[in-house]
Amino acid sequence: MIILGIETSCDETAAAVVTSDKRILSNIVSSQLKEHTPFGGVVPEIAARSHLHHIDFIVEKALKDASVSLQDLDGIAATGGPGLIGGVIVGVMMAKGMAMATNLPFLPINHLEAHALTVRLTHAVEFPYLLLLVSGGHCQFLIAEDVGKYTYLGGTLDDALGECLDKTARLLGQPYPGGPFIERMALRGNPHAFAFPHPLKGQKGCSFSFSGLKTAARKVILEHNTGSLPFCEDFCASFQKVIGEILQDRCRHALAVALEKFPSLKTLVVAGGVAANQYFKAQLTLCAREKEVDVVSPPIDLCTDNGAMIAWAGVEWLKKGARGDLDFAPRPRWPLAEKD
Ligand code: KG4
Ligand code: ZN
Repeated sequence: MIILGIETSCDETAAAVVTSDKRILSNIVSSQLKEHTPFGGVVPEIAARSHLHHIDFIVEKALKDASVSLQDLDGIAATGGPGLIGGVIVGVMMAKGMAMATNLPFLPINHLEAHALTVRLTHAVEFPYLLLLVSGGHCQFLIAEDVGKYTYLGGTLDDALGECLDKTARLLGQPYPGGPFIERMALRGNPHAFAFPHPLKGQKGCSFSFSGLKTAARKVILEHNTGSLPFCEDFCASFQKVIGEILQDRCRHALAVALEKFPSLKTLVVAGGVAANQYFKAQLTLCAREKEVDVVSPPIDLCTDNGAMIAWAGVEWLKKGARGDLDFAPRPRWPLAEKD
């Protein structure tokens, strides 16, 4: 089975060709970062226009690099949401048009589910698994029981972790995305230089809260920022350390809930852009080992938004018997599982 996947839900125009035997034949990602930088964040209208401008070329390149033609495909998948609606419409319309012209199934993919399933493309992970989805827009624990079947355990009450990292890095004068900058700076800093609050510490449940931490970080920056490299390194190391502790604390609770429901559960999957952070992953691994649970993440280039994850989710749905849905309407909001 060979699937084309298209991703346009945020600021990357991406397309990839993936096979059901887990080969990534091509994976083209075109970032709009430069177009949004002057505005300090992703501007939805600019994003939509840029997707429209690039999509033909990116899809053509994905097919060409994979050395496949439209006739070789078994389905066309595109992010159907959640995301910035203008961009989602561009990807969905492109995929629907191609599906109509070729008579192939069009597979609308939930972007969050694609992040959740990527690890099954790159590793041999079986259901059920505990999933920590951490990106710029999402921060939640779910149990993945099957394709299309997720149980929500808890998530952020305010900001997503990626958002908190991006906004804090911005206060340090750094452009989006701030996560990689903080990780890089933290490597050389003193993690004990500054103390930060630890919201929800020890509390039951799997919720997160980052707005208090963000405010505390702002205060430290306003009071101590000299613009020097040592300050920045110490700040980032201390900030990253407390987030590592928060992740560990929440992970302990989530694992307890997940293991009670599925005692045979073996894996914690960390997915989404923030999963690229090696320090957070090491902290989560320490905590999961206590319960003999393995921590698995996709490789870094598949943690951030890409077309291969969309194509793979298309493979998973086709294998489950999905027939395609040309009536699908793009969804700006599309939760993976209902919150209790
Ligand atoms: O999944 P993603 O590419 O886009 C969505 O938000 O859907 O995630 C982007 C987020 C940004 O907040 C970015 O700062 C964060 O992932 N990120 C990182 C790292 N690389 C990307 N955060 C921490 N450490 C990193 N190395
Ligand atoms: Zn994403």
